[in-house]
Amino acid sequence: MVSKSRWKLLAMLALVLVVMVWYSISREDRYIELFYFPIPEKKEPCLQGEAESKASKLFGNYSRDQPIFLRLEDYFWVKTPSAYELPYGTKGSEDLLLRVLAITSSSIPKNIQRLNNAPVAGYEGDVGSKTTMRLFYPESAHFDPKVENNPDTLLVLVAFKAMDFHWIETILSDKKRVRKGFWKQPPLIWDVNPKQIRILNPFFMEIAADKLLSLPMQQPRKIKQKPTTGLLAITLALHLCDLVHIAGFGYPDAYNKKQTIHYYEQITLKSMAGSGHNVSQEALAIKRMLEMGAIKNLTSF
Ligand SMILES: *[C@@H]1O[C@H](CO)[C@@H](O)[C@H](O)[C@H]1NC(C)=O
Ligand SMILES: *[C@@H]1O[C@H](CO)[C@@H](O)[C@H](O)[C@H]1NC(C)=O
Ligand SMILES: *[C@@H]1O[C@H](CO)[C@@H](O)[C@H](O)[C@H]1NC(C)=O
Repeated sequence: MVSKSRWKLLAMLALVLVVMVWYSISREDRYIELFYFPIPEKKEPCLQGEAESKASKLFGNYSRDQPIFLRLEDYFWVKTPSAYELPYGTKGSEDLLLRVLAITSSSIPKNIQRLNNAPVAGYEGDVGSKTTMRLFYPESAHFDPKVENNPDTLLVLVAFKAMDFHWIETILSDKKRVRKGFWKQPPLIWDVNPKQIRILNPFFMEIAADKLLSLPMQQPRKIKQKPTTGLLAITLALHLCDLVHIAGFGYPDAYNKKQTIHYYEQITLKSMAGSGHNVSQEALAIKRMLEMGAIKNLTSF
């Protein structure tokens, strides 16, 4: 004899089945969801220190104690000796740097993390709408900080040469602008709050060049090879974050010089000739990081 509770269960199952069939007839697309176990949306767990431990295979046991941004106290009270000149160190640029650090800030907001002049307005669907940090250098500062950033976005200067410190000082202190010494005219007027400016520690450029690209630190001036701001940003993210996703990275075929390199403009790979960036080598470095799971590719075009 079948007990009352069993009947109840069977009746419920029958009802569920009827509803499922009804759904499958009324909504073809629902069929899959109901008759197959729905695959739960893959949520990646964010494990503390995960990116760091994976990245340590590339960078060695690099120190998380390195400040992200350069600090006034490290140049004012103590003279922090640097082994290299810009962009890998501050050797020889200390005095200029000191003046810039005196009018900017080095504080780090709790939530740390776009790049150069890459616009956000109009591209939110692809690039998101929150910019925690924007890495830039004078020649790439052709964006309106008020339009492309949030009010609390940190503008992080990546200094490639001493003139970059000089430029930011003339902008912030409204001193006489200097036009020579840049490979492209940087903005002469830039409406920005000095308190939002940070100076990136050249340490990140050093480890990106040394550990990811195996570039020699001491190079002849004229043909200095250096990492792109993109690769630098990945290096920095590996240092700051527990989980690193990259979006929009996909190096075009090095032989196809007509391919565009940014989502927002028509500049092609050809323009990178003579920039000191080795695109093929960076593509290999990124591939390696993807393969070892240190970073994840978020973009699916
Ligand atoms: C880094 O340090 C950890 C433990 O301190 C050690 O197990 C690991 O082998 C080190 N990695 C490298 C690349 O030196
Ligand atoms: C990321 O994935 C997209 C889509 O599959 C691809 O086009 C792009 O080349 C990938 N980027 C890298 C760096 O592998
Ligand atoms: C760029 O990198 C590739 C791959 O590592 C290498 O074969 C090539 O010689 C490099 N080019 C220059 C100009 O260094």
